[in-house]
Amino acid sequence: MHLTSLTLLNFKNYEHFEGNFSLKINCFVGQNGIGKTNLLDAIYYLAFCKSYFNSIDSQNIKHNESFFMIQGFFEKNLDKIELQCSVKKHQKKLFKRNQVEYDKLSDHIGFIPLIMISPSDNELIYGSSELRRKFIDGIISQYDKVYLDNLVQYNHVLKQRNALLKNFFEQNYFDNETLEIWTEQLIIYGEKIIKIRKLFLEEFIELFNKNYEFISSQKEHVSLNYLNSINDDFKAELNNYLNRDRLSHNTTIGPHKDDLEFCISGYSLKKFASQGQQKSFLLALKLAQYEFIKHKKQVKPLLLLDDIYDKLDEARFNKLIDLVGNNYFGQVFITDAHPERISKLMSSKNIESKLFNIES
Ligand SMILES: Nc1ncnc2c1ncn2[C@@H]1O[C@H](COP(=O)(O)OP(=O)(O)O)[C@@H](O)[C@H]1O
Ligand SMILES: [Mg+2]
Repeated sequence: MHLTSLTLLNFKNYEHFEGNFSLKINCFVGQNGIGKTNLLDAIYYLAFCKSYFNSIDSQNIKHNESFFMIQGFFEKNLDKIELQCSVKKHQKKLFKRNQVEYDKLSDHIGFIPLIMISPSDNELIYGSSELRRKFIDGIISQYDKVYLDNLVQYNHVLKQRNALLKNFFEQNYFDNETLEIWTEQLIIYGEKIIKIRKLFLEEFIELFNKNYEFISSQKEHVSLNYLNSINDDFKAELNNYLNRDRLSHNTTIGPHKDDLEFCISGYSLKKFASQGQQKSFLLALKLAQYEFIKHKKQVKPLLLLDDIYDKLDEARFNKLIDLVGNNYFGQVFITDAHPERISKLMSSKNIESKLFNIES
């Protein structure tokens, strides 16, 4: 599967962009702030119906304009597919496949498997647990629609349960029977989510370790641990924490509190690892994500590499280009602020590639 062409209208800093792409490696080069990352983001939009960076759609409309449009033509198993995303100020986002609008955007997720690797990934280390849950959920949702549905349902029920807890708290009143209606559903969806997350991580951790070994020259031991907020029985634990939930008018336990712990030689990656080790860790996470999705979907995902040079020293960068240049990987999009550096590298390696010089 690959993207053959992309057209943008009023997307971020682009009034208009048109490009036809190589099946293998595409390099967006140009000075800082020129719009290289924005191109990757436009491609990301076509896969996930949203920006990787800014979740408020209207803020991705070019300043002083009233709409944006992203159109891409893909080829998947010899089929030609047109995807189009358009956002008008104060209107619902429209997302179309072959001119037909989706009822639910979630139906599109997974159709275009894609992995973005960006400097902002370090938020996975430094940010809140929500980002790490989103990382896991984002991968699973690309191949398991039922999981995504369960997750949507779980979040809906959670919201209702919390609203009711708040209502009881404010009215100084409590009716356990009404609360139980939501609690029971929370358990049904929650247990399914936990089960799938566990199964996923068993497989994923193995891929992660393999990729970390490949990238890092050191032999330090890294680990990825699932911190499940439920020890044993979700129902029993919700019951145990009922008083706490009532006081905080919030559901304080459940898969919405799960986390992933990143460790190096047994210590916290955030606190004790060097920058280089952190970068390798993140890259290994993303490459494991690539392998995992490739395996599950039996298709080579698109790979977007944003300013990856900043992440790695030259030797590791070379290693990575060798890796993504080979046949295991499919179409790749890379940004770099140094045109000479990347074009030299591509020609020295004899990889099919196309260079796009982005200018204002
Ligand atoms: N909604 C928007 N309207 C106009 N310009 C925008 C919008 N959002 C971002 N930009 C501009 O896009 C530029 C950044 O583009 P980016 O793709 O990050 O550059 P780089 O080439 O460094 O990757 C900035 O100049 C920023 O002001
Ligand atoms: Mg950039």
